[in-house]
Amino acid sequence: MLRTLGTCYYPEHWPEEIWAEDAARMVAAGLTWVRIGEFSWSRLEPVPGDLRFEWLERAIAVLGDAGLKVVLGTPTATPPRWMVKRHPDMLAHDAKGRPRGFGSRRHYCFSHAGYVDECKRITRLIAERFGRNPHVAAWQTDNEYGCHDTTISYSPSARAAFQTWLEAQFDADIQALNAAWGNVFWSMDYDAFADVELPNLTVTEANPAHVQAFRRFSSDQVVAFNRAQVEIIRAHSDAPISHNYMGRITDFDHFQVGDDLEIATWDSYPLGFLEDRVGVDAALQRAYARQGDPDFQAFHHDLYRAVGKGRWWVMEQQPGPVNWAPYNPSPLPGMVRLWSWEAFAHGAEAVCYFRWRQAPFAQEQLHAGMLRPDSADAPAMQEAMEVAAEIKDAPELQPVQAPVGLLFDYDADWAWATQPQGQGLSYFGLVFNLYRALRRQGLSVDILRPETRDFSGYKLLFAPGMMHMSDDLKQALAQANAHVVYGPRSGARDQNFCIPTPLPPALPGLDVTVARLESLRPDMAIPLADGGQVTGYLEELEGHAEVVMQTVDGAAVVMETGRQIYCGGWLDEAGFDRLVRHCAQQAGVTVRQMPEGVRLRETATEAFWFNYSNHAVQTDVGTLPPAGVLRQEL
Ligand code: GAL
Repeated sequence: MLRTLGTCYYPEHWPEEIWAEDAARMVAAGLTWVRIGEFSWSRLEPVPGDLRFEWLERAIAVLGDAGLKVVLGTPTATPPRWMVKRHPDMLAHDAKGRPRGFGSRRHYCFSHAGYVDECKRITRLIAERFGRNPHVAAWQTDNEYGCHDTTISYSPSARAAFQTWLEAQFDADIQALNAAWGNVFWSMDYDAFADVELPNLTVTEANPAHVQAFRRFSSDQVVAFNRAQVEIIRAHSDAPISHNYMGRITDFDHFQVGDDLEIATWDSYPLGFLEDRVGVDAALQRAYARQGDPDFQAFHHDLYRAVGKGRWWVMEQQPGPVNWAPYNPSPLPGMVRLWSWEAFAHGAEAVCYFRWRQAPFAQEQLHAGMLRPDSADAPAMQEAMEVAAEIKDAPELQPVQAPVGLLFDYDADWAWATQPQGQGLSYFGLVFNLYRALRRQGLSVDILRPETRDFSGYKLLFAPGMMHMSDDLKQALAQANAHVVYGPRSGARDQNFCIPTPLPPALPGLDVTVARLESLRPDMAIPLADGGQVTGYLEELEGHAEVVMQTVDGAAVVMETGRQIYCGGWLDEAGFDRLVRHCAQQAGVTVRQMPEGVRLRETATEAFWFNYSNHAVQTDVGTLPPAGVLRQEL
């Protein structure tokens, strides 16, 4: 597979006279792909039924004739004003029950049947018109499902759909639901599915079983919404279909959406994410303000490689300052190139810069592009052209299995959000902290979906924090030819969010029981014997497995038997580093401590070194300048 570049372009924003010159400049810059169309509904259908597809056809022709391949987006993330007039109840409702209004984007509820039908209609019309267009080489459904907190909606349509969903889950037996959820508690029993409300606006917290069920339902609605478009496009086109996911958006199961698509893509804004999404850490944010977090992009590259079943792109790459984070610095010179190469190192087929030209109008007028608003080159252009020249000579991409597998389970993320048990405790945070620790030891990681049962080829597996684990997953992990690290909170709840007996984690072949658990204030960290601390969360472990890490007071924190290892606490950096080194040694995996800010990613044929720090760093392979990238052929 060749490595390629592209950009995101909005022909409807610019006079038609400049399309050809734009296209020629894209080609001259070494770009292959151009994504268009995803917000253009009001110009494709200015009034209901009045279709104006000619301009889009001309734009595709201009871009395609210049030699570019088009990714065509369905415009369903931006329903026009008339749509809301036609379906006033299509808007999503927030947790306070208020409709989320027109005037930006994503103003729809996934459960509104009328809007879903409108989406099918416009998708069908576009697919019929452009499905066999030779320049349309890929598709994108909608834009960033879940962006702006839009997966969950408390609208009347969502309530009706949730009741139907529950009825199917419980075989129309309302007493089965009452029993499974424990509705005897606080007299919450229902007589009929039609009585089940959404879990918002309750006086105090709703039943966690109810909340978790609603989150599963909300995810299923996204999957169904996407599938409806995919089925229509497929009937008219052989080109691959993609969707552009985001950083740290976990409200729907991306693996299930990905099952219906050929390619996963994601939108990578390293500087915006550092300020907005990585988690608040002033020292880290200051040190990496112009570079981005050294692990956040890589984590999502690995995640979406799994979601795309091997095929994935960066659909939107930050090219300069963005407009939407609390602070929006410019990247350190060289970072646009580094981010691009890092994506390729993790197996991306394409990296597309968002956006081609900075818009002088509307919400994103302070968002950089490859061109300035006056069409002069912006700094990203130079770096993109450098990457274009470099990938020409680079070898083709070779898929490879990493030595370490890390399970990632969206359902577990919802479970932790439903019941964090302590402020700041999140599943994503736990998994990401472990991922960071693995990368600090120079390890390349494959992220695995929770349905994985064949673990062959991995020497070391991590399955942290999966609050519900099916018996067959437990069996498959116990039988894997690998060391497996579980906990904290593994297997802590059954399918319906109740505490199972025998008590968790109930792992075959590992005599460990969580007898009690506590969450800790930030100023209550508990020191570990031999270095590191437990922060935030700790379990009291019973059982006869061997204790391999403990608190200074002698309480077991990590226990193991054979290849099964259980960690009953949320550890700090030093603690997770020790855990990773211990497990790697047991599993025969070689670790290499990375210098601060330097990361390594290995494929079958290449090793890539990246310097995320803003100063030169000495490594095993030589000195890396700030924002430096070093590619070694192995
Ligand atoms: C993405 C989105 C784009 C654009 C961009 C700005 O989340 O898909 O349309 O808004 O952010 O950074």
